[in-house]
Amino acid sequence: MSPAMNFIDGAWRPATAGTLRNVINPADGSVLAQVADSTVEDTRLAIAAARRAFYEIGTWRRMSGAKRAALLYKVADVIQADAGRLAEVDCLDNGKPLREAQADVDDAVACFRYYAGLIGKPQGGVYEVPDGFGEMHAYAMHEPVGVCGLITPWNYPLLMATWKLAPALAAGNSVVLKPSELTPLSAIELFKIFEKVGLPPGTANLVLGTGPAAGQELAASDQVDMITFTGSTRTGQVIATQAVGNLKKVGLELGGKSPNIIFADADFEGAVEWAMIGVFFNQGQVCSAGSRILIEESLKDRFVERLAQRARGMRIGPGLTNPDIGAIVSQAQLDKVLGFIDRARASGARVVCGGRRHVADGCERGYFVEPTVIDGCTPDMEIVREEVFGPAVSIQTFRTEQEAITMANDTRYGLAGGVFTSDGARALRVMKELRAGITWINCYNPTFNEAPWGGYKMSGYGRDLGVNGLLEYQQVKQVNINLHPGPVGWYAQA
Ligand code: NAI
Ligand code: MG
Repeated sequence: MSPAMNFIDGAWRPATAGTLRNVINPADGSVLAQVADSTVEDTRLAIAAARRAFYEIGTWRRMSGAKRAALLYKVADVIQADAGRLAEVDCLDNGKPLREAQADVDDAVACFRYYAGLIGKPQGGVYEVPDGFGEMHAYAMHEPVGVCGLITPWNYPLLMATWKLAPALAAGNSVVLKPSELTPLSAIELFKIFEKVGLPPGTANLVLGTGPAAGQELAASDQVDMITFTGSTRTGQVIATQAVGNLKKVGLELGGKSPNIIFADADFEGAVEWAMIGVFFNQGQVCSAGSRILIEESLKDRFVERLAQRARGMRIGPGLTNPDIGAIVSQAQLDKVLGFIDRARASGARVVCGGRRHVADGCERGYFVEPTVIDGCTPDMEIVREEVFGPAVSIQTFRTEQEAITMANDTRYGLAGGVFTSDGARALRVMKELRAGITWINCYNPTFNEAPWGGYKMSGYGRDLGVNGLLEYQQVKQVNINLHPGPVGWYAQA
């Protein structure tokens, strides 16, 4: 396979330094592909192309919303027609189970269609302003921000790119996408689709490479009008700091340590399975993962026993074999996850099941971790405080509703949280007290294009998806119209 290149100004071009980087299949450590390993020079070329397309040529931003929508519907159609292959690309590159990769592709198709539809709907408002200088009308119009830098993570390669590209493009912006260096392959496929449907050159640009070398310039450059990022809280802080130079708009969707609160009156088997979906889906590499189970004391033993029994029954294997648990994305993340589990053990917590690298049955060379349940956790432990981003969940108990709420909010993060109970009023009371941007009641992790997604506290700011997701990529302009153009007589006549 020939190395994949950057897509800049409508053309595929190698990194200016000519260097390449290997893309690894985490199921066996083999090299899947080689791609351009860009430097700041390449990012600057992409930014310049995006600026020319937006500020000088202006084809995309001046195009009617209906025409932009038609092109984005075409993007969705082409993704859908090639869905099987695209799912395999993310499955191989990221390590996730095939059915989860297939769901990501379906969601990406729906996301492009959602924003294609939304851009044609009414936006802004008209206001009558009868006071002050006389009778006037004001209206608000929504305009694209300009050049948007988009930096995406490796856990949902195609979907995170889509969550940003679909609204940014629908709004009429020019974009530069820097996908994760660990999983760039589906983004490359997506840009081939952009090329095929004929987005105007320079509208959507792709730069492949690492964060510090290729990504950071998108945050730092005063030629970029906005940066949106999904990834770690630490990198989010770097990006926010870099972005301050020209006060560009910033959107950050960062880490989490989300509480999953289970009351004794919850549907038992339902709560067990949703708790598994909450922390084992995508090998636990989900920003919203329900990685802290807070459970009512009276139910704890029975619940932990059943959860561990079901976790032990999960099939671990290469993504293409459609297991319950696939590979962790990289050797570094594998080591990181195992380190968290080892230190939890050392700090006195009890590993009830899992806790080790899985190396049997064709997994010998891959980065697999057994689904892990850790009981006996106390609030000060690292396993309770830090994002693991792997298939490991800590268990803590509470006695009262208030205690559950206090424990749930005892974190610097605020991305998500779940509540399981058959008492509807209690579910709503607890949900309302959670300092988190996404909450689930009697379920965990389902996400919809229609509803806004994002965090409180150190989980970031700004929202992906929904109407809010489009607004992020727009500026609002106020237009005031004087209905009586004559003199107003404000100053003394001279
Ligand atoms: P990361 O936040 O460093 O990487 C995410 C993206 O940011 C990648 O595209 C990367 O190239 C880019 N990046 C890294 N440094 C950058 C910089 N200085 N300027 C601009 N872009 C930069 O995450 P990493 O190191 O891959 O994973 C570490 C931890 O981050 C995980 O263990 C997990 O806890 C968390 N994480 C959270 C995600 C989420 O969905 N909220 C996604 C991925 C990781
Ligand atoms: Mg990979």
